[in-house]
Amino acid sequence: MFEQLVGKLPVGIGVVDENFNVIYLNDFFLDRLPYELRQNYKETPVTELFQGEGKFLKRRLKSVFVLQHPSFSYWEQRPHIFPFKSSRPITGEETQMYQNMEILPVKDKATGKKLACIFLQDVTAQASYFRAQQKLSEALKKEHEAQRKLIRKLDTAQSQLIQAEKMASTGQLAAGIAHEINNPIGFVNANLNTLAQYASHLISICDGVYSYLENFNDELREQIEALYQSNHYDLLKDDITELIEESTDGLTRVKDIVENLKNFSLENSEGVQTVDICTVCNQLITLISAQYSVPQYKFDCELEKVEVMGNPGPLKQALMNIMINAAQAIHTKGVVKLSVRDSGDKVTIKILDSGCGIPAQNLKRVFEPFFTTKPEGQGQGLGLSVAYTAIEQHQGKISISSKEAKGTVVEISIPKQPSNASSATSEDLSIPSEALPTDTQHA
Ligand SMILES: Nc1ncnc2c1ncn2[C@@H]1O[C@H](COP(=O)(O)OP(=O)(O)OP(=O)(O)O)[C@@H](O)[C@H]1O
Ligand SMILES: [Mg+2]
Repeated sequence: MFEQLVGKLPVGIGVVDENFNVIYLNDFFLDRLPYELRQNYKETPVTELFQGEGKFLKRRLKSVFVLQHPSFSYWEQRPHIFPFKSSRPITGEETQMYQNMEILPVKDKATGKKLACIFLQDVTAQASYFRAQQKLSEALKKEHEAQRKLIRKLDTAQSQLIQAEKMASTGQLAAGIAHEINNPIGFVNANLNTLAQYASHLISICDGVYSYLENFNDELREQIEALYQSNHYDLLKDDITELIEESTDGLTRVKDIVENLKNFSLENSEGVQTVDICTVCNQLITLISAQYSVPQYKFDCELEKVEVMGNPGPLKQALMNIMINAAQAIHTKGVVKLSVRDSGDKVTIKILDSGCGIPAQNLKRVFEPFFTTKPEGQGQGLGLSVAYTAIEQHQGKISISSKEAKGTVVEISIPKQPSNASSATSEDLSIPSEALPTDTQHA
């Protein structure tokens, strides 16, 4: 009865002696043997009975006999030791049986012989389920990654929208201020011109009086001379002209700045048109040197005009952001140099500064939105990411190289005639951070 029960168990049970000859197999095993072997399996070596995996089985059995310690093989490590029974229904998509196998050392009490008992469990259902789960979690992982990329793209686009908004409102503010300042500048300028003329007349009168002095009597002459001297007439005469000239120069500079402010704020929505990079650079130098007066500014261009087809607003914005960075990098003394070259179908612009430079570990991050090393409230970390997008929209390239304590060079090249100049869509807004190179030169 007991032997019958063991024989019918849905797990494989087999007993092997120290010579690796099979002593007992239950039906689970027998069903998987070729028909002719089933009758005479006893005393047959395992390698003969189970030809496919006989050698593996023998190795395991040997270790159990030598070490007198159980041995276990898991389905993941050695999945198919024995085949499915030919009549067994196929489980799901599996074509082979997954098995766990355990071999235990036992001793025959009657003879004292060392034996090994093999237990084999069909775990196809669990294995199949486990593998399906694995596939699912891999698919989920992929989806997560795709979502993360999408979120990154959205973050970038959002930050650039914030910057655009900020720039638009700054632009409006600038336009408003420029408009308000224009009127007083107008009458101060007119008054200054009149003042210059009046001063010149007054000087002529005073000089005339002085030249007639010899016609006066001594007492009167001395009194008039004393009056001229006590009021430092010679000094007043020289200084008044110089002061008026300086004021006129200063006013001209203010007028230039206001003019440029108006340019920058109004041209954002102008669309694609001819942009003269030289004019833009000159305007920028005037504008930025008024705000950051520490560096010395140099403009290097052999041509009078270098034109590209582009959107003036974003182009100026990009150059302005880079120029501001260059100016901000110089704390005591240094140079910001802008050079423009006509390189055939492209225009190359270099913005060089002799400022603090960028440490190598930061260089790979400078184009990331919100990356800033400036104190809170002084930098949003958006300047370069906005510049990157603007140059990309113009099918151009931007790269930055830097040496700490030496300075930084930002190089931009823009095609003069982009293949489809109006194709700047919202998709172009994204800056794939993984696309940015990681060495000390970044493009
Ligand atoms: N010319 C430069 N010299 C030194 N460091 C620079 C230079 N240009 C950029 N950087 C570094 O790159 C960082 C990012 O520059 P980015 O213009 O994007 O942002 P920001 O200047 O910090 O802030 P924002 O431009 O929004 O006011 C800066 O914080 C600075 O550390
Ligand atoms: Mg900046």
